[in-house]
Amino acid sequence: MRLKRSIMCGALRASHTGQEVTVCGWVQTIREIGGLVFIDLRDREGTVQLVFDKEVIPKLHEQAKRLAREWVIGARGKVSKRSERQVNKNLPTGEVEVIVSDLEIHNSAETPPIEVRDDVEANSDIRLTYRYVDLRRPKMQHIFQVRHKLAKAARDYFDAQGFLEIETPLLTKPTPEGARDFLVPSRHYPGSFYALPQSPQIFKQILMMSGFDKYFQIARNFRDEDKRADRQPEHTQIDVELSFVEPADVQKVIEGLIAHVMKAVMGVEVKLPLPHMSYAEATASYGIDRPDLRFGMQLVDLSEIVKDCGFGVFADTVKSGKAVKALLLPGGHEKISKGQFKNLEADAKGRGAKGLAFIRYTADGVDSPIAKFIGEAHMAKIKEKTGANAGDMLIFVADHARLASQILGAYRNQFGAEFGLIQKEGFRYLWVDDFPQFAYDEEKNEIVPEHHPFVMPKNEDAFMAFAEEFKRNDRKANPRIVDLALAVTATQYDIIVNGIELGSGSQRIVKPSVQNAMFDCLGMTREQANAKFGFLLEALKYGAPPMAGIGMGVDRWMMALFGIDNIQEVVVFPKHANARGMMDGSPSPAEEAQLKELGIALREEK
Ligand code: AMO
Ligand code: AMP
Repeated sequence: MRLKRSIMCGALRASHTGQEVTVCGWVQTIREIGGLVFIDLRDREGTVQLVFDKEVIPKLHEQAKRLAREWVIGARGKVSKRSERQVNKNLPTGEVEVIVSDLEIHNSAETPPIEVRDDVEANSDIRLTYRYVDLRRPKMQHIFQVRHKLAKAARDYFDAQGFLEIETPLLTKPTPEGARDFLVPSRHYPGSFYALPQSPQIFKQILMMSGFDKYFQIARNFRDEDKRADRQPEHTQIDVELSFVEPADVQKVIEGLIAHVMKAVMGVEVKLPLPHMSYAEATASYGIDRPDLRFGMQLVDLSEIVKDCGFGVFADTVKSGKAVKALLLPGGHEKISKGQFKNLEADAKGRGAKGLAFIRYTADGVDSPIAKFIGEAHMAKIKEKTGANAGDMLIFVADHARLASQILGAYRNQFGAEFGLIQKEGFRYLWVDDFPQFAYDEEKNEIVPEHHPFVMPKNEDAFMAFAEEFKRNDRKANPRIVDLALAVTATQYDIIVNGIELGSGSQRIVKPSVQNAMFDCLGMTREQANAKFGFLLEALKYGAPPMAGIGMGVDRWMMALFGIDNIQEVVVFPKHANARGMMDGSPSPAEEAQLKELGIALREEK
């Protein structure tokens, strides 16, 4: 390389005027005007204008004319202040240009399939296939600079708090977090497989038993699950565990982390302590366990009011122990047409509702097919309780409280985004706690876990009572057992920001008897539990301290910081639909010889 860089393109300012500099980068644009060629040269810090003047060095001018977008060059020249008229106010380097006296061409480039500009939309397949070009865009460069800062700020914080970063293995026994495992075949033990960790959960617990006391790790996690906009088959967590603590202690550490990272990365002050909300309140008022507090529109329970109204659907629903819930959409009368409501009603039925009812508040009264059944006195109470005004619209679901809330909660989020009701600036963090330990799957008549199997129940006695009875009843659900199961609250806590589940943690089970009871509840025989988790059960025998921790999703945090809905934007080489790596083409078939070594024979696809 002949021309060694002396400064970044994006760093040049008026104060450099008169200096000889060398810049390197990619050709962003090329324009020829009269005897001058202008090139915007780009590196990760920004772009600067290069000028090739025919009058000064004719040969260089000729060479410059042949350059094209994304060619890679180095250029030496004098920094010159632009005349007042030529200043580009949109560019940090816009006051200067470099009058080039020497040029080195490192590489030509074919015309790339996407433009390296933030204002040009490209199809995501193409962006991911040509990710190296896509990543050259200033916005993408910025995202990964911020991601670096986030990780650095987290490490600085934990180091200052006396945590040790310890790496845990990737080739391990399965660590269940509710997804399928990615398996890695073993060459030494044909027919046996390692699993990539769904999280470092078991290992961090064992590190506490090993006396490390305060652990963290920026860890990769692997989960084979169906794609969603906020999921990747491999994601990164800031994984944390502490000994001799309770949930409140972990939460305090994480609040400190959030404040530190937000300040260091975003320059934002976060007011501590963060608010808490119970799972019950979150699901009742927001229809979801990760409420977005950037806007209001809490769900209203009208069961008490409508239980004796004249509208049979509502009154009967309440009489049968279910609920009537409503969502108030401010200005909804104008926002949702009759046709749109029909679609919404069809959607609600698709989600399991029996119907969707509405009241529109107009300038001269109400417009609602159910108003006449409800009657004036009850209509007045509904208006008062919901605070509805002229122009608003109330939407009702009468059903099991959980289903009604779920559906209206989904519409709350949908309307919030669609009608711009969400305060875009700012970050609303909160803790959600007191999650149930188990759920009841009505369709299958089964009791199912809500968390990984190491989460300590909040009330050990209630849990053990349920576990005993459940086991006695051969793990079959009956109404009494369902009641016992649903009465078990977990020590689980989630940290939420702007409606995104950022992290999850809990107190861990450290008594072998409780851990065994939990495995029992999950339907594992002692043999199965030993085969899968024998090493943990064994470790628990040799002195396990009380412990609690959390895993914070780094990708999710990045999404929240940038207000981005699609996780692919914040992962440098993400997997696309169906977990395919678009750029490298993974996954790909293994060679015959490799399979043979692993003792694997592929079944012929029929
Ligand atoms: P959990 O499974 O809730 O807890 O994960 C913790 C956080 O990790 C993020 N996350 C994901 N991000 C992107 N893609 C995914 N597929 C994905 N799955 C999870 C989320 C989530 O809140 N071992 C426990 C933590 C603990 O108990 O300490 C765990 O992994 O932000
Ligand atoms: P119906 O009396 O069944 O014709 O219902 C009258 C109105 O109430 C219609 O707009 C229905 O969609 C609506 N509706 C019916 N069942 C429910 C329900 N469970 N929750 C909310 N609205 C309902």
